[in-house]
Amino acid sequence: MNDAKKAAGEQAAELVRTGMRVGLGTGSTTAYALRAIGRRIRESSLHVMGVPTSFASERLARECGIPLTTLDDIDELDLALDGADEVSPDLDLIKGRGGAHTREKVVAAQARRFIVLTDPSKDVDRLGAKRVLPVEVLPMATGPVLRTLSGLGADASLRMGREKDGPVVTDQGFWLIDAQFDGGIDDPAHVDRTLRDTPGVLDHGLFLDMATDVFVGHPDGSVEHRQRDE
Ligand code: A5P
Repeated sequence: MNDAKKAAGEQAAELVRTGMRVGLGTGSTTAYALRAIGRRIRESSLHVMGVPTSFASERLARECGIPLTTLDDIDELDLALDGADEVSPDLDLIKGRGGAHTREKVVAAQARRFIVLTDPSKDVDRLGAKRVLPVEVLPMATGPVLRTLSGLGADASLRMGREKDGPVVTDQGFWLIDAQFDGGIDDPAHVDRTLRDTPGVLDHGLFLDMATDVFVGHPDGSVEHRQRDE
C-alpha cells in the first residue's frame, strides 16, 4: 500500500500554496505529504506555516524544513492534511491508531478544508467494522470509561506499550482505551455524544461531519478525489 499512500500524500501536498497555514497530520500517509511540502520549500520557494498534530509530526516537519506555528498565533488554518484508519461512504472517519486523534481533531476543527489522505484498505461501509475506536482518557477515569464503553456494546481494553511496560502514554500524558464494536458501530452519533459527555474522556477517534475532502491513493499511482456533499 505504500505506493497508494505516496500517491495520496503527494497529490494532496499540491493543494498547498504560498502563504497558507496548514495543519500537519500524523501517520505514514501524511508523512508523504509533509516530505513533498518540504521538497517544495527547498526547491521552489514555497512559503507556508504548519501546525503539527503530534510530537511525531512536529519532529518530521522540522526534519523537512517546514516552519511551525501554533493555534495561539494564528486564528485559522487554510488546510489540514491528515490520514485515517477508516472512512465511511459519508466521509466520516475513525482516527487514532497512532494515538494522535485528540490534537488531530483540534487542528482539523480550525481548518477551512480538512483533507483526508487514505488508500482503499481504509474504506468501510460501517465505522468500526475493521478497526478499534481509540478513546483518550485521564488515567484515574479508566474504570468508569471502560464501563461506559461496555454499556455501548464495545469490548474495550487499555492499550499497552510494546517496548515499554505498562499503558501507552499519549503526547498529553493520558492513556488510551481501544474499543472494538463487533460488526461495527450502529449509531456513531450516539457513541460520539456519550463519550463527549463522559467525565475523564479527553477525546475519541470518531470524526463525524468534519472531512471536506478525501484523497484515496491507489497502488497504480492514481488518486480518487471525494468531496463532502454540502
Ligand atoms: C494517528 O493517530 C492517526 O489518526 C493517523 O492519522 C491514522 O492512523 C492514519 O495513519 P496511516 O496514514 O499511517 O495509516
